[in-house]
Amino acid sequence: MKFDKPATQNPIDQMKVVGQPIPRIDGQLKTTGRAMYAYEWHDPNIPYAYGYPLGASIAKGRIRSIDSSKAKKAPGVISVVTALDVGKREKGKFNTANLFGGDEVQHYHQAVAVVVAETFEQARAAASLIKIDYEVSDGSFDLKAAKDTAVKPDEKQQPDTAVGDFDGAFKAAQVTLDENYATPDQSHSMMEPHASIAAWDNEKLTVWTSSQMIDWWRSDLATTLGIDKDDIHLMSPFIGGGFGGKLFLRADAVLAAFGAKAAGRPVKVALPRPFISNNTTHRPATIQRIRIGAGRDGKITAIAHESWSGDQPGGQLETAVNQTRLLYAGQNRMTAMRLATLHLPEGNAMRAPGEAPGLMALEIAIDEMAEKLGIDPVEFRILNDTQVDPEKPERPFSQRNLVGCLKLGAERFGWSKRGKPGLRREGNWLIGLGVAAAFRNNLLLPSAARVRLGQDGTVTVETDMTDIGTGSYTIIAQTAAEMLGLPVDRVAVQLGDSRFPVSAGSGGQFGANCSTSGVYAACVKLREAIAQKLGFNTDDVVFENGQVRSGNRSVALADAAGPDGLSGEDGMEWGDLSETHQQSTFGAHFVEVGVDIATGETRIRRMLAVCAAGRILNPITARSQVIGAMTMGVGGALSEELAVDTRRGFFVNHDLAGYEVPVHADIPHQEVIFMDEADPMSSPLKAKGVGELGLCGVSAAVANAIFNATGVRVRHYPVTLDKLISGLPDVA
Ligand code: MOS
Repeated sequence: MKFDKPATQNPIDQMKVVGQPIPRIDGQLKTTGRAMYAYEWHDPNIPYAYGYPLGASIAKGRIRSIDSSKAKKAPGVISVVTALDVGKREKGKFNTANLFGGDEVQHYHQAVAVVVAETFEQARAAASLIKIDYEVSDGSFDLKAAKDTAVKPDEKQQPDTAVGDFDGAFKAAQVTLDENYATPDQSHSMMEPHASIAAWDNEKLTVWTSSQMIDWWRSDLATTLGIDKDDIHLMSPFIGGGFGGKLFLRADAVLAAFGAKAAGRPVKVALPRPFISNNTTHRPATIQRIRIGAGRDGKITAIAHESWSGDQPGGQLETAVNQTRLLYAGQNRMTAMRLATLHLPEGNAMRAPGEAPGLMALEIAIDEMAEKLGIDPVEFRILNDTQVDPEKPERPFSQRNLVGCLKLGAERFGWSKRGKPGLRREGNWLIGLGVAAAFRNNLLLPSAARVRLGQDGTVTVETDMTDIGTGSYTIIAQTAAEMLGLPVDRVAVQLGDSRFPVSAGSGGQFGANCSTSGVYAACVKLREAIAQKLGFNTDDVVFENGQVRSGNRSVALADAAGPDGLSGEDGMEWGDLSETHQQSTFGAHFVEVGVDIATGETRIRRMLAVCAAGRILNPITARSQVIGAMTMGVGGALSEELAVDTRRGFFVNHDLAGYEVPVHADIPHQEVIFMDEADPMSSPLKAKGVGELGLCGVSAAVANAIFNATGVRVRHYPVTLDKLISGLPDVA
């Protein structure tokens, strides 16, 4: 099915099931420990062996030789496979650095060997006996030092935009701001580490893994192993978080496959927690410069956003200026991004790549500008709203209710009580309120599914879509239930299996809208098959209460199925509605903090998010996405930072003791309001996504609240107490 015209009335609009607060259908499996995550697959008849990875202990250079003789003789060891044994491999499409194989070391903790043993402990002990002789080369590990060497990447990465005369307008502006901001490297730090089990049956490979994108992994694994994609069966039915860290094939699957081949047995490999920081991807650090010029009336006349980030050779930008191309009005504008070569582990997408760090800077700058103008920051954002793409005014937004989010949020949060910076005190605490806009684009990827009606009248959906904790199982069941006139408990959902039709996968907050659209398309096919079988007119057929009706005829779905059942398979493809119309999601984040006047310690007191993101498919799972994202944004504001050893070239704090992420218990009160919307430009579901929107702007709202509490403006994240303490008011 092709979606190339705005959606009109369709069965989803009944919203008997879609849009209802249905608890997640996989919830019981998860809370009772019966949902099998990758490493947990267990068949008592299979003699699993355990693989333990060894990571490079240098950041850049060459392996001269590997001595694994001691490891091979260690207790329980079945085999040792080294990077030199497997040789240089063709790299998959989605990774920048090699995952395993060959003598070149591109970053610290790149996998250089895997030890396979009878037990996990034996494999780990033996891995420490491997001796490697390295030839070390110099590398570049410090973004600040490398900033001046950064270059403009190729046009495919869309580094620059410009409209009007920024320089002239900025010079002429009555009020101006010119500031630099910095965001650190961040780690996905999902609960479940990357893990895989590989089992060979002659040339056929079965892999249980933890992947956001089944088809991308399968292709890249085939390329890396040098085998046919069709010979790989990949499964990832339950995933303990990804945040972008499991978008792309990682070393665990490759090591498990090579290890299993050498051992002649199925092998389990989980990346140890320290490998998450240095072996897998991370969100790259940025340095950003923002200039804004406005008239005394508060209208922006000039806005410029530049960003510098780094990556491995051949790597990519952190697209931190992208939201600035779309978020606020202003006739004269420019954006630019430059990329430095760094030999740190490879950077890549982490939840809301681009917008998350971009808004961390932009939304502080907007707060500062409002302060300079003496205009309330909510009012300043409203004054500079735009209903068209400010770089291409002929393109309207499909829907944009940022103003509504700001107004409703201000009213519900008690924004009018916000005072001047540094003046509100309760005991030891300085209290402040902060706001930021949230913005994230609505991406569209093709997505397919198969839907089967069984002879018992139940429906089974199969698609390789993944559920990374987001609620995919539930919203997909709701979609099929609505389309076929069934309650949700008559629908079974099978996900994360490469034997199923290829979906959009989980990423970029496109998963919810795209995967349900694919299921919608398959359901349309199944409805046609049912109507045809019954000799019903497809135009007036109604699916309701487990019955199929046309005119005055009515048949139970179970009877329609017949002994063999019926099935429908199709996918959604997208026309050019996202080119004619800018499709984005919007929100407003409000935060109240307390800052200890003596120590500078910040505590979050309450948070509110108001989101305008199209139709909300399930308010429970959507809210869960947003409160989780708000919590993540607090981490970005206050604690998360991969500390770089700029001499040796690695991330030092490589565990959850050193890389601190907040939990819900750190935030006493969170509220989420969804605007009542449906966007007919986005899909037949009229939905978008909220999983990344919920994070966008949060950290800046926290930083702005800290400024309101203390009068101290911090532009380098995280906002830790050492950056506040010397600026705090004297204790009276
Ligand atoms: Mo997302 S960073 O595309 O999982």
